[in-house]
Amino acid sequence: PENVYILGIETSCDDTAAAVVRGDGKILSEVVSSQAEMLTQYGGVFPKIAEEGHAKAIDKVVSEALFQAGIKESGLSAVAVTIGPGLSLCLRVGVRKARSLTKIHRLPWIGVHHMEGHALVARLTDPQLEFPFLVLLVSGGHNLLLLAQKVGDYIQLGTTLDDAIGEAYDKTARELGLDLSKGGGPALERLALEGDDKAFNFSVPMRSVQDCNFSFAGLKTRVKMLISSQDIKPSIVHIDEANAEDRQIRADIAASFQRVAVLHLEDRCDRAIEWAKSMAPIRSLVVSGGVASNKVVRERLRNLAEKHGLRITCPPPRLCTDNGVMIAWTGVEHFKLGRIQPPPPLDEPDDCY
Ligand code: KG4
Ligand code: ZN
Repeated sequence: PENVYILGIETSCDDTAAAVVRGDGKILSEVVSSQAEMLTQYGGVFPKIAEEGHAKAIDKVVSEALFQAGIKESGLSAVAVTIGPGLSLCLRVGVRKARSLTKIHRLPWIGVHHMEGHALVARLTDPQLEFPFLVLLVSGGHNLLLLAQKVGDYIQLGTTLDDAIGEAYDKTARELGLDLSKGGGPALERLALEGDDKAFNFSVPMRSVQDCNFSFAGLKTRVKMLISSQDIKPSIVHIDEANAEDRQIRADIAASFQRVAVLHLEDRCDRAIEWAKSMAPIRSLVVSGGVASNKVVRERLRNLAEKHGLRITCPPPRLCTDNGVMIAWTGVEHFKLGRIQPPPPLDEPDDCY
């Protein structure tokens, strides 16, 4: 493994990321170029604009990752790239880059599922993590509960029926007039520290539904309605312009939203743990994806795991949000199992999920 070097490329959403990981799990480099200004300026990710951002950044990000790792393109063992799910215009930028590298240097190609990357990176950061394990993936686009049996073998226990939790965080942060330049989720988490999490009583979604699926759209809408009824008009007033009383209300809303959003995660995980235990001898709960960098999420799920006698593993925040390391590492896992392919033909525009 010490002479296996995998380049990972990730461009599924708004971050252009690349990393080189060695076969034994040593991270040799990691580079992320983010397009946070787009969020501040437009309040969301627009595929066409994000695509242009990726196209501008990709060559530099990849050569920087190789440079930091001290590896030449031709010295790579394979190139791993996110092929989906994600914004297809954006995915294509990474896929094209990977294709040209693998073609020129006759390298093996490893197409990676973005969510598998989020799940498996936990095996890099926690070498004691053994299959089978339960994994909760919480990001801007996905909410998944998976029983991971081995590399490439996952049973889906739950998914979101509408919005993912990260999307609810981002939209709520925007309604509250928060600064989105470093992401809505982190801004809301910070504001919530100043608030009373029981100030507003939002109901916990799907309490009466006996499965492991998620729903965040209802909560998102109830928060939105509350904000407009308070007449805060945060889309006009930035939080920095709010007076003390106004700021307190917003903090209370943020804290109350977060309490209920996390309770919903706990409810579904609680049931999923029992279910997974009935199918496989799991010993660990993995929590990964952007929202797993949230301290309240980590803390509450740690308690839940302990209650069930499970270990918990959360990758460090920089590896929870989108990054190239998780793609490179998933490439390593596939490479070790011989799951490599020749690069796909150049004239195949729709090769994304
Ligand atoms: O995994 P990720 O980087 O991208 C996707 O695959 O979607 O997740 C991004 C999501 C965003 O919605 C962001 O607001 C959320 O993760 N996020 C957080 C925190 N950090 C990132 N949500 C809540 N609290 C945080 N600290
Ligand atoms: Zn992600």
